[in-house]
Amino acid sequence: MSIESIQPKLIIHGGAGLCLRDKDGKERVRTVLLGIVQQIYDLLLEGSSAVDAVIKGCQLLEDEPRFNAGTGSVLQSDGQIRMSASLMDGTNQSFSGVINVSRVKNPIYLAQELQKQSDHILSDYGAAELLRELNIPIYDPLTDLRLQEWMEERKHNFSSKTAGVIAERTGTIGVVALDNQGHIAAGTSTGGKGLERIGRVSDSAMPAGNYANAFAGVSCTGIGEDIIDECLAAKIVIRVTDGLSLAEAMEKSMAESRSRNRELAAIALDHQGNIVWGKTSEIVLAAYHNGKAMGDSLDATPTESMGRY
Ligand code: GLY
Repeated sequence: MSIESIQPKLIIHGGAGLCLRDKDGKERVRTVLLGIVQQIYDLLLEGSSAVDAVIKGCQLLEDEPRFNAGTGSVLQSDGQIRMSASLMDGTNQSFSGVINVSRVKNPIYLAQELQKQSDHILSDYGAAELLRELNIPIYDPLTDLRLQEWMEERKHNFSSKTAGVIAERTGTIGVVALDNQGHIAAGTSTGGKGLERIGRVSDSAMPAGNYANAFAGVSCTGIGEDIIDECLAAKIVIRVTDGLSLAEAMEKSMAESRSRNRELAAIALDHQGNIVWGKTSEIVLAAYHNGKAMGDSLDATPTESMGRY
């Protein structure tokens, strides 16, 4: 197969968790996700690199207030927003990210910048300093809805395990792309699980939650602690690298996660153009373009654990 004939592939997600509240909500999420898939897939068709497509896709998802990343991030136990994001370029096998950054519109841009620097992952103070160095304007990602939700949780003395019970609140966002040169990249961004104590570190800026190499790329969503305990993204990618098919790697990893009662989901694609999602949660808000058509995971039943395209 000549290099020119590689067909781009794309999968994105807007979180995982319990089922969406209503049918209207589901259709709105579907419209948003498919709109972003179309926009990013068009860029890939125009020759955009997988890395650039992932950054743009993450930015669009971060800017969509219904998802828990960038604008619309959930609040932590002290009522503050602290976001985490990472980018992995599968070709160079290079990971970069920010942990617990505040007052910025698009954390994914910091992860992008850190690909070029010798220090690849920065946390709170360092990330704030980088923002200043880059002259990125201060931005408050808080929405009225998130503040109301936090006030409601406060009334109940923050007794919930996470900041919400619907997928749009408990998740992260993520993008995995294969470009027309056969390169893979993955990006993930989150406001965290919500209501966490100060200093808690999310999986989204760790290889457990976001990983890619020349063979495959994965972005995870769900409860960060569960994803870290499974080392999910890196595990799926390594399994593909060592010879399992993408579907086998996802299936095995989800079966293991389920046996340990994990609450998580993942999206993935490989260098051959296979696309899959997997979940132990009731729902994952995933959408894809497989080169022929777009589709999504929103009609999957709560017990369905995988989709492949
Ligand atoms: N998966 C997002 C988080 O738990 O922080």
